[in-house]
Amino acid sequence: MRATAIAHPNVALAKYWGKRAIPGNVPATPSISVSLGGLQTRTTVELDPSLTKDVLTLNGALADSTRASALLDEVRALAGITAFARIESHNDFPTASGLASSASGFAALARAAVTAMGVSVDDRELSRIARRASASAARSVFGGFVALGTEDNAAAEPVESAAHVTVVVAAVTLGPKLQSSTSGMEHCRATSPYYDAWVADAPRVAAEIRAALAAGDLERVGVAAEASALRMHACMMASAPALLYFQPATLDLLARVRALRAEGVAAWATIDAGPHVKVLCAPRDATRVAEKLAPSAVRTIIAHVGGPARVVE
Ligand code: PMV
Repeated sequence: MRATAIAHPNVALAKYWGKRAIPGNVPATPSISVSLGGLQTRTTVELDPSLTKDVLTLNGALADSTRASALLDEVRALAGITAFARIESHNDFPTASGLASSASGFAALARAAVTAMGVSVDDRELSRIARRASASAARSVFGGFVALGTEDNAAAEPVESAAHVTVVVAAVTLGPKLQSSTSGMEHCRATSPYYDAWVADAPRVAAEIRAALAAGDLERVGVAAEASALRMHACMMASAPALLYFQPATLDLLARVRALRAEGVAAWATIDAGPHVKVLCAPRDATRVAEKLAPSAVRTIIAHVGGPARVVE
Protein backbone atom coordinates (compact mmCIF):
# COMPACT_ATOMS: atom_id res chain seq x y z
CA MET A 1 0.00 0.00 0.00
CA ARG A 2 3.09 2.23 0.06
CA ALA A 3 6.08 2.53 -2.26
CA THR A 4 8.85 5.02 -2.99
CA ALA A 5 10.49 5.37 -6.39
CA ILE A 6 13.18 7.58 -7.84
CA ALA A 7 13.52 8.71 -11.46
CA HIS A 8 15.89 10.98 -13.32
CA PRO A 9 14.89 13.75 -15.68
CA ASN A 10 16.06 13.37 -19.26
CA VAL A 11 17.08 15.79 -21.94
CA ALA A 12 15.98 15.21 -25.51
CA LEU A 13 18.72 15.20 -28.14
CA ALA A 14 15.96 14.97 -30.78
CA LYS A 15 13.10 17.12 -29.45
CA TYR A 16 9.44 16.32 -28.99
CA TRP A 17 7.39 19.46 -29.56
CA GLY A 18 3.75 19.16 -30.63
CA LYS A 19 1.04 16.57 -30.13
CA ARG A 20 -0.86 14.44 -32.62
CA ALA A 21 -4.57 15.18 -32.98
CA ILE A 22 -5.60 11.96 -31.24
CA PRO A 23 -6.40 11.30 -27.58
CA GLY A 24 -3.73 10.00 -25.18
CA ASN A 25 -1.00 12.65 -25.42
CA VAL A 26 0.89 11.19 -28.40
CA PRO A 27 3.84 13.22 -29.75
CA ALA A 28 3.81 14.65 -33.28
CA THR A 29 7.60 14.31 -33.50
CA PRO A 30 9.84 11.37 -32.59
CA SER A 31 12.34 12.08 -29.80
CA ILE A 32 15.56 10.57 -28.45
CA SER A 33 16.80 11.46 -24.99
CA VAL A 34 19.53 10.78 -22.48
CA SER A 35 18.86 10.26 -18.77
CA LEU A 36 20.36 12.90 -16.46
CA GLY A 37 21.93 10.87 -13.68
CA GLY A 38 22.97 13.88 -11.61
CA LEU A 39 19.39 14.97 -10.89
CA GLN A 40 16.48 13.07 -9.39
CA THR A 41 12.89 13.03 -8.21
CA ARG A 42 11.90 10.87 -5.25
CA THR A 43 8.19 10.10 -4.92
CA THR A 44 6.23 8.15 -2.31
CA VAL A 45 2.68 6.92 -2.93
CA GLU A 46 0.71 5.73 0.08
CA LEU A 47 -2.89 4.59 -0.20
CA ASP A 48 -5.05 5.83 2.65
CA PRO A 49 -8.71 4.70 2.79
CA SER A 50 -9.53 7.62 5.11
CA LEU A 51 -8.77 10.22 2.40
CA THR A 52 -11.59 11.75 0.34
CA LYS A 53 -9.23 12.80 -2.47
CA ASP A 54 -5.56 12.44 -3.47
CA VAL A 55 -3.23 14.79 -1.61
CA LEU A 56 0.00 15.88 -3.33
CA THR A 57 2.93 17.48 -1.55
CA LEU A 58 5.66 18.79 -3.84
CA ASN A 59 8.93 19.77 -2.19
CA GLY A 60 7.08 20.05 1.12
CA ALA A 61 4.22 22.29 -0.08
CA LEU A 62 0.65 21.24 -0.96
CA ALA A 63 0.21 21.26 -4.75
CA ASP A 64 -2.56 20.76 -7.32
CA SER A 65 -3.00 17.00 -7.79
CA THR A 66 -5.12 17.03 -10.99
CA ARG A 67 -2.52 15.51 -13.33
CA ALA A 68 -1.15 13.13 -10.69
CA SER A 69 -4.70 11.97 -9.87
CA ALA A 70 -5.40 11.22 -13.54
CA LEU A 71 -2.35 8.92 -13.57
CA LEU A 72 -3.40 7.30 -10.28
CA ASP A 73 -6.94 6.77 -11.65
CA GLU A 74 -5.47 4.64 -14.47
CA VAL A 75 -3.48 2.54 -12.01
CA ARG A 76 -6.46 2.28 -9.62
CA ALA A 77 -8.58 0.97 -12.52
CA LEU A 78 -5.94 -1.68 -13.32
CA ALA A 79 -5.71 -2.67 -9.63
CA GLY A 80 -9.43 -2.55 -8.88
CA ILE A 81 -8.70 -0.18 -5.99
CA THR A 82 -10.73 2.90 -5.10
CA ALA A 83 -8.71 4.34 -2.17
CA PHE A 84 -7.10 7.74 -2.56
CA ALA A 85 -3.42 8.33 -1.97
CA ARG A 86 -1.01 10.61 -0.25
CA ILE A 87 1.73 11.52 -2.74
CA GLU A 88 4.95 13.06 -1.55
CA SER A 89 7.41 14.15 -4.20
CA HIS A 90 10.75 15.85 -3.87
CA ASN A 91 13.11 17.13 -6.58
CA ASP A 92 16.77 17.73 -5.83
CA PHE A 93 16.81 20.36 -8.64
CA PRO A 94 14.61 23.41 -9.48
CA THR A 95 10.99 22.41 -10.16
CA ALA A 96 8.92 23.48 -13.22
CA SER A 97 11.71 25.68 -14.50
CA GLY A 98 12.41 23.91 -17.78
CA LEU A 99 14.75 21.43 -16.11
CA ALA A 100 12.34 18.60 -16.97
CA SER A 101 10.77 18.01 -13.57
CA SER A 102 7.59 16.67 -15.19
CA ALA A 103 9.58 13.86 -16.86
CA SER A 104 11.17 12.54 -13.68
CA GLY A 105 8.09 13.43 -11.61
CA PHE A 106 5.57 11.40 -13.59
CA ALA A 107 7.99 8.51 -14.20
CA ALA A 108 8.67 8.22 -10.46
CA LEU A 109 4.94 8.57 -9.71
CA ALA A 110 4.00 5.85 -12.21
CA ARG A 111 6.63 3.46 -10.83
CA ALA A 112 5.65 4.11 -7.19
CA ALA A 113 1.91 3.89 -7.96
CA VAL A 114 1.98 0.47 -9.69
CA THR A 115 4.16 -0.89 -6.89
CA ALA A 116 2.00 0.54 -4.08
CA MET A 117 -1.13 -0.90 -5.72
CA GLY A 118 0.42 -4.27 -6.58
CA VAL A 119 -0.11 -3.93 -10.34
CA SER A 120 2.36 -5.83 -12.52
CA VAL A 121 3.05 -4.09 -15.83
CA ASP A 122 6.13 -4.30 -18.02
CA ASP A 123 8.32 -1.25 -18.64
CA ARG A 124 6.67 -0.42 -21.99
CA GLU A 125 3.22 -0.42 -20.40
CA LEU A 126 4.54 1.72 -17.54
CA SER A 127 6.00 4.06 -20.14
CA ARG A 128 2.55 4.39 -21.79
CA ILE A 129 0.97 5.25 -18.42
CA ALA A 130 3.67 7.91 -17.85
CA ARG A 131 3.26 9.23 -21.44
CA ARG A 132 -0.41 10.01 -20.95
CA ALA A 133 0.59 12.30 -18.05
CA SER A 134 3.64 13.85 -19.76
CA ALA A 135 5.21 12.51 -22.95
CA SER A 136 8.78 13.20 -21.83
CA ALA A 137 8.03 11.10 -18.70
CA ALA A 138 7.57 8.05 -20.96
CA ARG A 139 11.32 8.29 -21.64
CA SER A 140 12.32 8.65 -17.94
CA VAL A 141 10.93 5.15 -17.23
CA PHE A 142 14.13 3.87 -18.88
CA GLY A 143 17.76 4.74 -18.22
CA GLY A 144 20.46 5.61 -20.73
CA PHE A 145 19.46 6.66 -24.24
CA VAL A 146 15.74 6.34 -24.99
CA ALA A 147 13.48 6.84 -28.02
CA LEU A 148 9.80 7.74 -28.10
CA GLY A 149 7.91 7.51 -31.38
CA THR A 150 4.71 8.99 -32.75
CA GLU A 151 2.65 5.82 -33.26
CA ASP A 152 -0.77 5.34 -31.61
CA ASN A 153 -0.31 4.55 -27.90
CA ALA A 154 3.48 4.97 -28.22
CA ALA A 155 5.81 3.58 -25.56
CA ALA A 156 9.42 4.61 -25.14
CA GLU A 157 12.24 2.10 -25.61
CA PRO A 158 15.99 2.05 -24.96
CA VAL A 159 18.32 2.97 -27.83
CA GLU A 160 21.78 1.49 -28.38
CA SER A 161 24.61 3.95 -28.00
CA ALA A 162 28.31 3.50 -28.57
CA ALA A 163 28.79 7.21 -27.82
CA HIS A 164 29.79 8.37 -24.33
CA VAL A 165 27.95 11.55 -23.46
CA THR A 166 27.91 13.68 -20.33
CA VAL A 167 25.47 16.57 -19.99
CA VAL A 168 26.49 19.75 -18.22
CA VAL A 169 23.33 21.57 -17.13
CA ALA A 170 23.75 25.35 -16.89
CA ALA A 171 20.76 26.78 -15.01
CA VAL A 172 20.05 30.41 -15.88
CA THR A 173 17.41 31.11 -13.21
CA LEU A 174 15.90 29.04 -10.44
CA GLY A 175 12.40 30.54 -10.92
CA PRO A 176 9.40 28.94 -12.65
CA LYS A 177 9.19 28.95 -16.44
CA LEU A 178 6.88 31.28 -18.37
CA GLN A 179 4.52 28.80 -19.97
CA SER A 180 3.82 25.07 -19.63
CA SER A 181 5.01 22.83 -22.46
CA THR A 182 1.48 21.66 -23.24
CA SER A 183 0.07 25.16 -23.78
CA GLY A 184 3.27 26.27 -25.54
CA MET A 185 3.04 23.41 -28.05
CA GLU A 186 -0.61 24.09 -28.76
CA HIS A 187 0.10 27.80 -29.24
CA CYS A 188 2.90 26.93 -31.63
CA ARG A 189 0.75 24.49 -33.63
CA ALA A 190 -2.07 27.03 -33.88
CA THR A 191 -0.02 30.11 -34.78
CA SER A 192 3.52 29.32 -35.98
CA PRO A 193 3.94 29.31 -39.78
CA TYR A 194 7.00 27.07 -39.20
CA TYR A 195 5.12 24.35 -37.27
CA ASP A 196 4.44 22.04 -40.24
CA ALA A 197 8.05 22.36 -41.41
CA TRP A 198 9.27 21.52 -37.89
CA VAL A 199 7.12 18.38 -37.74
CA ALA A 200 8.12 17.32 -41.27
CA ASP A 201 11.87 17.72 -40.57
CA ALA A 202 11.98 16.12 -37.08
CA PRO A 203 12.01 12.40 -38.14
CA ARG A 204 15.11 12.95 -40.28
CA VAL A 205 16.95 14.59 -37.36
CA ALA A 206 15.89 11.80 -34.97
CA ALA A 207 17.11 9.16 -37.45
CA GLU A 208 20.44 10.98 -37.76
CA ILE A 209 20.87 11.04 -33.96
CA ARG A 210 19.97 7.36 -33.68
CA ALA A 211 22.55 6.47 -36.36
CA ALA A 212 25.20 8.72 -34.81
CA LEU A 213 24.68 7.15 -31.35
CA ALA A 214 24.99 3.66 -32.83
CA ALA A 215 28.19 4.71 -34.61
CA GLY A 216 29.60 6.22 -31.41
CA ASP A 217 30.09 9.55 -33.19
CA LEU A 218 29.71 12.28 -30.55
CA GLU A 219 30.26 15.09 -33.05
CA ARG A 220 27.42 13.89 -35.29
CA VAL A 221 25.17 13.50 -32.23
CA GLY A 222 26.04 17.01 -31.04
CA VAL A 223 25.59 18.74 -34.38
CA ALA A 224 22.17 17.14 -34.92
CA ALA A 225 21.04 17.70 -31.31
CA GLU A 226 21.92 21.41 -31.48
CA ALA A 227 20.03 21.67 -34.79
CA SER A 228 16.96 19.94 -33.29
CA ALA A 229 16.85 22.37 -30.36
CA LEU A 230 17.40 25.51 -32.44
CA ARG A 231 14.78 24.47 -35.03
CA MET A 232 12.29 23.85 -32.23
CA HIS A 233 13.02 27.31 -30.81
CA ALA A 234 12.77 28.90 -34.28
CA CYS A 235 9.29 27.37 -34.55
CA MET A 236 8.41 28.72 -31.08
CA MET A 237 9.74 32.21 -31.82
CA ALA A 238 7.66 32.39 -35.02
CA SER A 239 4.42 31.89 -33.04
CA ALA A 240 2.06 34.85 -32.56
CA PRO A 241 2.59 36.23 -30.00
CA ALA A 242 6.16 34.92 -29.99
CA LEU A 243 7.09 32.15 -27.59
CA LEU A 244 10.56 33.25 -26.53
CA TYR A 245 12.16 31.20 -23.77
CA PHE A 246 15.67 32.63 -24.20
CA GLN A 247 17.11 35.08 -21.71
CA PRO A 248 20.33 37.09 -22.19
CA ALA A 249 22.27 34.43 -20.28
CA THR A 250 20.95 31.78 -22.69
CA LEU A 251 22.75 33.53 -25.58
CA ASP A 252 25.87 34.04 -23.43
CA LEU A 253 25.94 30.31 -22.80
CA LEU A 254 25.49 29.51 -26.52
CA ALA A 255 28.47 31.80 -27.23
CA ARG A 256 30.51 30.00 -24.58
CA VAL A 257 29.72 26.64 -26.21
CA ARG A 258 30.91 27.99 -29.57
CA ALA A 259 34.06 29.31 -27.85
CA LEU A 260 34.70 25.87 -26.36
CA ARG A 261 34.51 24.36 -29.85
CA ALA A 262 36.92 27.01 -31.14
CA GLU A 263 39.30 25.90 -28.35
CA GLY A 264 39.03 22.32 -29.61
CA VAL A 265 36.60 20.99 -26.96
CA ALA A 266 33.76 18.88 -28.39
CA ALA A 267 30.63 20.54 -26.92
CA TRP A 268 27.11 21.18 -28.27
CA ALA A 269 24.13 22.91 -26.72
CA THR A 270 20.51 21.92 -26.35
CA ILE A 271 17.68 24.01 -24.85
CA ASP A 272 14.19 22.91 -23.74
CA ALA A 273 11.10 25.00 -23.00
CA GLY A 274 13.00 27.28 -20.67
CA PRO A 275 16.11 29.49 -20.63
CA HIS A 276 18.58 26.85 -19.40
CA VAL A 277 21.31 25.44 -21.59
CA LYS A 278 22.35 21.80 -21.43
CA VAL A 279 25.70 21.00 -23.00
CA LEU A 280 26.65 17.63 -24.45
CA CYS A 281 30.31 16.69 -24.18
CA ALA A 282 32.64 13.76 -23.63
CA PRO A 283 32.80 12.66 -19.96
CA ARG A 284 36.48 13.66 -19.73
CA ASP A 285 35.68 17.26 -20.75
CA ALA A 286 32.77 17.79 -18.32
CA THR A 287 34.73 19.73 -15.67
CA ARG A 288 36.30 22.04 -18.23
CA VAL A 289 32.91 22.65 -19.87
CA ALA A 290 31.28 23.37 -16.49
CA GLU A 291 34.03 25.88 -15.63
CA LYS A 292 33.59 27.64 -18.96
CA LEU A 293 29.80 27.92 -18.53
CA ALA A 294 29.82 28.90 -14.83
CA PRO A 295 30.17 32.72 -15.24
CA SER A 296 26.87 32.86 -17.21
CA ALA A 297 24.93 30.39 -15.02
CA VAL A 298 23.44 30.50 -11.52
CA ARG A 299 24.31 26.84 -11.13
CA THR A 300 26.00 24.12 -13.16
CA ILE A 301 25.35 20.42 -12.66
CA ILE A 302 27.34 17.61 -14.28
CA ALA A 303 24.97 14.79 -15.18
CA HIS A 304 26.46 11.48 -16.22
CA VAL A 305 24.09 9.03 -17.92
CA GLY A 306 21.45 7.90 -15.41
CA GLY A 307 19.51 4.69 -14.82
CA PRO A 308 15.80 3.85 -15.05
CA ALA A 309 12.91 4.77 -12.72
CA ARG A 310 13.17 2.34 -9.83
CA VAL A 311 11.63 1.44 -6.50
CA VAL A 312 13.84 2.23 -3.54
CA GLU A 313 11.52 1.50 -0.56
O1 PMV B 1 6.53 16.15 -21.93
P1 PMV B 1 6.59 17.61 -21.63
O2 PMV B 1 5.25 18.24 -21.52
O3 PMV B 1 7.47 17.85 -20.42
O4 PMV B 1 7.31 18.35 -22.90
C1 PMV B 1 8.68 18.21 -23.20
C2 PMV B 1 9.09 19.18 -24.25
C3 PMV B 1 10.58 19.42 -24.39
O5 PMV B 1 11.24 19.28 -23.15
C4 PMV B 1 10.79 20.86 -24.88
C5 PMV B 1 11.24 18.51 -25.43
C6 PMV B 1 11.43 17.07 -25.04
O6 PMV B 1 11.41 16.22 -25.94
O7 PMV B 1 11.66 16.78 -23.85
